[in-house]
Amino acid sequence: MDFPYYPVNDFGPVIKGMVIGGLGIVHVFVAQFAIGGGLLMCYFQWLAQSGRCEPARRFLDGYFKAIVLISFVIGALTGVGMWLITIQTSARTIGLMVDAFHWIWLIEWTFFVLEIITGYAFYRYGPRLDDRARMTLLVLYSIAAWFSLFWVNGILSWQLTPGEWTATKNLWDGFFNPSFWPSLLFRTVTSMTTAALAACVVINTMTAHDRHQRVTLIHRASHFLVPMAAMPLLGIWYFAAIPPDSRSWALGGSAAMTLFLGLAIGASLLIGLYAFVGLLGKKLYINAATAALLCALALAATAGGEFVREGVRKPYTIREALFSNSITESEVAELRRIGSVTNDPFPIRDAGSYRSDQLRLGAKVFRFQCGVCHTINGVNGLVHLAGSWRTDQKRMNIAKLQHTKAFMPPFAGSAEELEALVQLIEWETEKRPPRWPDSVDPGVTAQIQQWLDEAGTASVTAQSRLASQRGSD
Ligand code: HEC
Repeated sequence: MDFPYYPVNDFGPVIKGMVIGGLGIVHVFVAQFAIGGGLLMCYFQWLAQSGRCEPARRFLDGYFKAIVLISFVIGALTGVGMWLITIQTSARTIGLMVDAFHWIWLIEWTFFVLEIITGYAFYRYGPRLDDRARMTLLVLYSIAAWFSLFWVNGILSWQLTPGEWTATKNLWDGFFNPSFWPSLLFRTVTSMTTAALAACVVINTMTAHDRHQRVTLIHRASHFLVPMAAMPLLGIWYFAAIPPDSRSWALGGSAAMTLFLGLAIGASLLIGLYAFVGLLGKKLYINAATAALLCALALAATAGGEFVREGVRKPYTIREALFSNSITESEVAELRRIGSVTNDPFPIRDAGSYRSDQLRLGAKVFRFQCGVCHTINGVNGLVHLAGSWRTDQKRMNIAKLQHTKAFMPPFAGSAEELEALVQLIEWETEKRPPRWPDSVDPGVTAQIQQWLDEAGTASVTAQSRLASQRGSD
């Protein structure tokens, strides 16, 4: 078997998965602002040219500058950053995504180009153009921005719910997957919310408007918060569409997932309450500080939501196709036979700091199989999680990794590699003592092998799917 090894980067005390997650959250938030912002500007342009809201025009030009600065600059930087980080942490995942959806990416980029061109044209010439031309540019900009969401949403939702694609490998089966529509609509509402809250911040910074004009503008912008009323239903629809095991992580099965889901719901509820009671009900004025606070809540809600979406996909980056550590289910048995890092050509960092070849082997196995989700000593550190276990307990629980926690993939290496990993954890737990004899007891290897065989090579998800298929035959 020719396993495709890639050089993976280490990000110090932080888990690789978190680096990409953190950058992704910023990117999504900024991108959603750009999408909702486009729609909001069309609305305000219409208000201005139909004479319904006289200060709308000046607001538009100010708001557009904020959109350009934030979404073009930060959005483009984080967008490129995402590609750079994904190829360093999970080249195989992004490779499969490009493989399966290159035409979709291409289409998405054409919309992105249109977004940039119309956006730049409005930025440069908007104030000098007549209403018709302004509206045309803004509508084109909005269509382009929303469709870039449309296309990317298909790919991102496919990662969690590939649906029929798993069997057919048909592009459109994967694209219009089970969570495509709820996810697209939910994100559209989120985009509109973010745009309205950002508008409230911008309106407060516009000193050229008097208080009365600002109240009018804020009242108009708050109309974009009305679709939030659909969020609970869209959320339930989304949760109904995702796999039962993923749903159960978020609904109590995993403390971290549940906590972040709670954060997302709580923050959204607070925004919703303020929107419906304060802005829409009592027509309250909202000052810069409150508006900024609501924006921060929206960021927290986005962060919580994205964290859950990424988190409940474990142990896969592409469900039923690729484990989080870039190994496929069908490769596990072979890697157990020949050793998972036997052919890994990339040296480990600071190789000289390890006391023995066995510990170096353990470090390599850790990097290859566990490093996306764990560190040794830092965040989600193995020393912290397993350091206090007895040696045999470590051996057994790692050999049966997918049963220890169902959101971990099966262990995909040889019994010798597993023992090396256990030795590494113990050596690190003892704070790297200078003397550390090799552990080479054939009895131990045989026992580990037996545990590996008992655990099987399938993930828990796949095992339960097979069981239910057998049941229905
Ligand atoms: C897909 C991500 C992922 C991968 C890959 C992964 N783990 Fe985990 N692991 C987790 C998460 C999440 C937890 C839960 C941490 C917690 O409970 O705070 C966990 C928990 C653990 C625990 C503690 C279990 C318990 O019952 O308390 C051990 C030990 C562990 N992992 C070892 C490993 C080893 C060894 C590897 C590599 C062979 C590995 N993991 C690969 C995500 C992963």
